Amino acid sequence: MKKLFVAAFAVSLAFASCSKNETPAETQPESNVMLEEPTVAEPVATAGTPEEEGKSLIQGADCLTCHKEDAKLIGPSYQEVAAKYEATDANIDMLADKIIEGGSGHWGDVPMTAHAGMSKENAKLMVKYILSLK
Ligand code: HEC
Repeated sequence: MKKLFVAAFAVSLAFASCSKNETPAETQPESNVMLEEPTVAEPVATAGTPEEEGKSLIQGADCLTCHKEDAKLIGPSYQEVAAKYEATDANIDMLADKIIEGGSGHWGDVPMTAHAGMSKENAKLMVKYILSLK
Protein backbone atom coordinates (compact mmCIF):
# COMPACT_ATOMS: atom_id res chain seq x y z
CA MET A 1 0.00 0.00 0.00
CA LYS A 2 2.71 2.44 1.02
CA LYS A 3 4.92 1.35 -1.85
CA LEU A 4 2.14 2.02 -4.30
CA PHE A 5 1.67 5.46 -2.91
CA VAL A 6 5.36 6.26 -3.18
CA ALA A 7 5.42 4.98 -6.75
CA ALA A 8 2.43 7.09 -7.67
CA PHE A 9 4.06 10.06 -6.08
CA ALA A 10 7.27 9.49 -8.01
CA VAL A 11 5.34 9.23 -11.27
CA SER A 12 3.49 12.42 -10.61
CA LEU A 13 6.78 14.08 -9.74
CA ALA A 14 8.21 12.92 -13.03
CA PHE A 15 5.27 14.41 -14.88
CA ALA A 16 5.53 17.58 -12.92
CA SER A 17 9.21 18.00 -13.71
CA CYS A 18 8.54 17.26 -17.38
CA SER A 19 5.95 19.93 -17.71
CA LYS A 20 8.16 22.32 -15.75
CA ASN A 21 10.94 21.89 -18.27
CA GLU A 22 8.67 23.16 -20.98
CA THR A 23 7.80 26.29 -19.09
CA PRO A 24 10.98 27.37 -17.37
CA ALA A 25 9.60 30.81 -16.59
CA GLU A 26 7.05 29.35 -14.23
CA THR A 27 8.16 29.62 -10.62
CA GLN A 28 7.20 27.24 -7.87
CA PRO A 29 4.37 28.39 -5.66
CA GLU A 30 6.37 28.67 -2.45
CA SER A 31 4.17 30.96 -0.44
CA ASN A 32 2.61 28.29 1.78
CA VAL A 33 6.01 26.65 2.42
CA MET A 34 7.45 29.96 3.54
CA LEU A 35 4.91 30.39 6.34
CA GLU A 36 6.93 28.38 8.86
CA GLU A 37 10.26 29.95 7.91
CA PRO A 38 11.58 32.42 10.44
CA THR A 39 12.33 35.73 8.79
CA VAL A 40 16.05 36.17 9.18
CA ALA A 41 17.17 39.71 8.62
CA GLU A 42 19.81 40.18 5.94
CA PRO A 43 23.13 41.29 7.39
CA VAL A 44 23.40 45.04 7.03
CA ALA A 45 25.22 45.86 3.84
CA THR A 46 28.79 47.03 4.39
CA ALA A 47 30.50 49.73 2.40
CA GLY A 48 30.52 47.39 -0.58
CA THR A 49 32.56 44.55 -2.01
CA PRO A 50 36.05 43.91 -0.60
CA GLU A 51 37.42 45.54 -3.76
CA GLU A 52 35.40 48.71 -3.20
CA GLU A 53 36.47 48.86 0.43
CA GLY A 54 40.08 48.34 -0.61
CA LYS A 55 39.81 51.16 -3.09
CA SER A 56 38.55 53.64 -0.54
CA LEU A 57 41.22 52.49 1.94
CA ILE A 58 43.88 53.17 -0.67
CA GLN A 59 42.42 56.58 -1.34
CA GLY A 60 42.61 57.32 2.37
CA ALA A 61 46.24 56.19 2.72
CA ASP A 62 49.49 57.45 1.23
CA CYS A 63 49.64 54.85 -1.55
CA LEU A 64 48.70 57.22 -4.34
CA THR A 65 51.83 59.30 -3.75
CA CYS A 66 53.80 56.44 -5.24
CA HIS A 67 51.26 54.36 -7.16
CA LYS A 68 48.79 55.15 -9.90
CA GLU A 69 46.30 52.72 -11.32
CA ASP A 70 47.55 52.83 -14.87
CA ALA A 71 50.99 54.41 -14.84
CA LYS A 72 54.31 53.83 -13.08
CA LEU A 73 55.22 56.49 -10.54
CA ILE A 74 57.74 55.68 -7.84
CA GLY A 75 56.23 52.24 -7.52
CA PRO A 76 54.67 50.02 -10.20
CA SER A 77 51.18 50.86 -11.45
CA TYR A 78 48.46 48.77 -9.86
CA GLN A 79 47.62 47.32 -13.23
CA GLU A 80 51.19 46.04 -13.55
CA VAL A 81 50.93 44.50 -10.09
CA ALA A 82 47.61 42.89 -11.07
CA ALA A 83 49.14 41.48 -14.23
CA LYS A 84 52.06 39.99 -12.30
CA TYR A 85 50.15 38.20 -9.56
CA GLU A 86 47.20 35.83 -9.66
CA ALA A 87 44.54 36.74 -7.11
CA THR A 88 45.20 33.64 -5.00
CA ASP A 89 44.92 33.58 -1.21
CA ALA A 90 48.68 33.03 -0.94
CA ASN A 91 49.50 36.04 -3.12
CA ILE A 92 46.98 38.25 -1.34
CA ASP A 93 48.55 37.26 1.97
CA MET A 94 52.09 37.82 0.72
CA LEU A 95 51.34 41.23 -0.81
CA ALA A 96 49.44 42.36 2.29
CA ASP A 97 52.55 41.58 4.36
CA LYS A 98 54.64 43.44 1.82
CA ILE A 99 52.49 46.56 2.20
CA ILE A 100 52.77 46.40 5.99
CA GLU A 101 56.47 45.61 6.13
CA GLY A 102 57.63 47.48 3.03
CA GLY A 103 60.40 46.12 0.89
CA SER A 104 62.15 46.23 -2.44
CA GLY A 105 63.60 44.05 -5.12
CA HIS A 106 60.50 42.93 -6.98
CA TRP A 107 60.20 45.91 -9.27
CA GLY A 108 63.52 47.68 -8.88
CA ASP A 109 65.76 49.09 -6.23
CA VAL A 110 63.37 51.72 -4.91
CA PRO A 111 61.91 50.44 -1.66
CA MET A 112 58.30 50.77 -0.61
CA THR A 113 57.94 52.36 2.78
CA ALA A 114 56.50 50.20 5.54
CA HIS A 115 52.97 50.77 6.80
CA ALA A 116 53.48 49.40 10.25
CA GLY A 117 50.23 50.69 11.73
CA MET A 118 48.07 49.05 9.11
CA SER A 119 45.98 46.02 9.97
CA LYS A 120 46.45 42.88 7.92
CA GLU A 121 42.71 42.96 7.28
CA ASN A 122 42.87 46.36 5.58
CA ALA A 123 46.04 45.53 3.70
CA LYS A 124 44.33 42.46 2.26
CA LEU A 125 41.35 44.52 1.13
CA MET A 126 43.73 46.86 -0.65
CA VAL A 127 45.47 43.96 -2.37
CA LYS A 128 42.12 42.53 -3.45
CA TYR A 129 41.29 45.83 -5.07
CA ILE A 130 44.70 46.09 -6.76
CA LEU A 131 44.53 42.56 -8.13
CA SER A 132 41.04 43.19 -9.51
CA LEU A 133 42.49 45.76 -11.92
CA LYS A 134 43.27 43.30 -14.66
C1 HEC B 1 57.16 55.76 -0.88
C2 HEC B 1 56.47 55.27 -2.05
C3 HEC B 1 55.40 54.20 -1.85
C4 HEC B 1 54.26 54.26 -1.08
C5 HEC B 1 53.80 55.39 -0.19
C6 HEC B 1 53.56 53.02 -1.32
N1 HEC B 1 54.26 52.23 -2.18
FE1 HEC B 1 53.71 50.39 -2.84
N2 HEC B 1 55.49 50.20 -3.79
C7 HEC B 1 56.46 51.19 -3.88
C8 HEC B 1 57.63 50.66 -4.58
C9 HEC B 1 58.90 51.41 -4.89
C10 HEC B 1 57.30 49.32 -4.88
C11 HEC B 1 58.19 48.28 -5.56
C12 HEC B 1 58.90 47.50 -4.47
C13 HEC B 1 59.73 46.39 -5.04
O1 HEC B 1 60.43 46.58 -6.03
O2 HEC B 1 59.69 45.29 -4.47
C14 HEC B 1 55.95 49.07 -4.39
C15 HEC B 1 55.29 47.86 -4.53
C16 HEC B 1 53.98 47.65 -4.15
C17 HEC B 1 53.25 46.45 -4.40
C18 HEC B 1 53.80 45.20 -5.09
C19 HEC B 1 54.69 44.44 -4.12
C20 HEC B 1 55.41 43.28 -4.76
O3 HEC B 1 56.05 42.54 -4.00
O4 HEC B 1 55.33 43.08 -5.97
C21 HEC B 1 52.00 46.63 -3.87
C22 HEC B 1 50.86 45.61 -3.86
C23 HEC B 1 51.96 47.94 -3.31
N3 HEC B 1 53.18 48.53 -3.49
C24 HEC B 1 50.87 48.49 -2.68
C25 HEC B 1 50.90 49.69 -1.97
C26 HEC B 1 49.83 50.17 -1.14
C27 HEC B 1 48.47 49.47 -0.98
C28 HEC B 1 50.25 51.33 -0.58
C29 HEC B 1 49.51 52.22 0.42
C30 HEC B 1 49.16 51.58 1.68
C31 HEC B 1 51.59 51.58 -1.08
N4 HEC B 1 51.95 50.57 -1.90
C32 HEC B 1 52.35 52.70 -0.75
C33 HEC B 1 56.39 52.47 -3.39
C34 HEC B 1 55.39 52.91 -2.53
